[in-house]
Amino acid sequence: MSESTAAVTGDPRTHVTLSEIYEQPRAITDTLAAYVSGNILNTEAWAGVRSVLRGSDRLIVAASGTSRHAGLVGEIMIEEASGVAVDVEYASEYPYRRYDTLQAPSVLVLSQSGETADTLLALREATSRGARTISITNVEGSTMAREADATLLTRAGKEVAIAATKSFTTQLVLLHLLSLLLGRERGRLSAPEVAEDLQQLATIPSIIAGSLPGWEQRMSEIVPSFAAAEAFLFLGRALHYPIAREGALKLKEVSYIHAEAYPTGELKHGPNALLGEGAPIVVLATRDEADPSSMLRYRRSLQLLEEIARQRINALVIATEGDTEIEAVATNVVFVPRTTEALLPLLEVIPLQLFAYFMSLQKGLDVDRPRNLVKAVTTE
Ligand code: AGP
Repeated sequence: MSESTAAVTGDPRTHVTLSEIYEQPRAITDTLAAYVSGNILNTEAWAGVRSVLRGSDRLIVAASGTSRHAGLVGEIMIEEASGVAVDVEYASEYPYRRYDTLQAPSVLVLSQSGETADTLLALREATSRGARTISITNVEGSTMAREADATLLTRAGKEVAIAATKSFTTQLVLLHLLSLLLGRERGRLSAPEVAEDLQQLATIPSIIAGSLPGWEQRMSEIVPSFAAAEAFLFLGRALHYPIAREGALKLKEVSYIHAEAYPTGELKHGPNALLGEGAPIVVLATRDEADPSSMLRYRRSLQLLEEIARQRINALVIATEGDTEIEAVATNVVFVPRTTEALLPLLEVIPLQLFAYFMSLQKGLDVDRPRNLVKAVTTE
């Protein structure tokens, strides 16, 4: 086999990134155990957050990097489930925004480390403006956990690899639970609806555990066809656009390949000009057949993929098991199991983490310690 067609081999014993990707079912299970009891949200665990958000109909999320991408998914989930208006800021930009409404909105900071300087500054700025604050962090006793009015802890366990993986999916889980809490409190969701959602969520760890070996194998086979790529465009709509952003960030961090994400509908408004032999595309084209808006999103993505195929652009597509239409328009398809629209991001992001991992290995790079990056950016 020539180098460009040989599958790349990963090793969780050698690479902490891969072992942390594989830890995600356990990390999600532990996070759920801390905040859910049976089919209801654990009253005690959510008491602090409920008290901060009582009466508040506006939430600002401030975060950096991967944590901000989780915030962008949370924005859509919370608005859809509860009607609470959410704005997501780059933590480093928050101090420059005034947000001087009559009632100070509550502010939620998201940070794996709980020590990122920009996010900590945003938290302190929010406090000084009179906002009530919440932190979601992975490190108990971290500065953000201590300084926020209420804290939710992701139970990812210590994350060592520079590229965040398990902290991201556990942040998504907590934000999903927060959307259910607010949806219930604002009367938008009934108790049975919340219970049904929690039942679905409880199946996610075993779905991921069962899928990981297949995803790993498939990605190791697919990456050689992208060996010559110099830049990637990642596309997704709605909840899946932040996942496209996260996929692009992972790829940049560990493979040093330029990658940008756009909402799928933006492609024709400029970025399309970049596509070509050296610039392939990654498309999130999953679907929840029970959800009409998910199917509308899917149909539009399928249409786009037909056009991309006519342009002979190499595409990596993340799609849903049982989708027979997608294979007619794309060769490099990775399937994720069926779940609800709101939970699909938890599945989609993991193949993208693996894609970045194998692209890094293919280039012979140190995937666990990419150049110029540190685990927590504690200086501005
Ligand atoms: C993630 O892969 C990155 N290393 C980086 O974007 C990170 O998410 C960002 O620096 C924020 O870190 P935090 O979550 O610890 O605040």
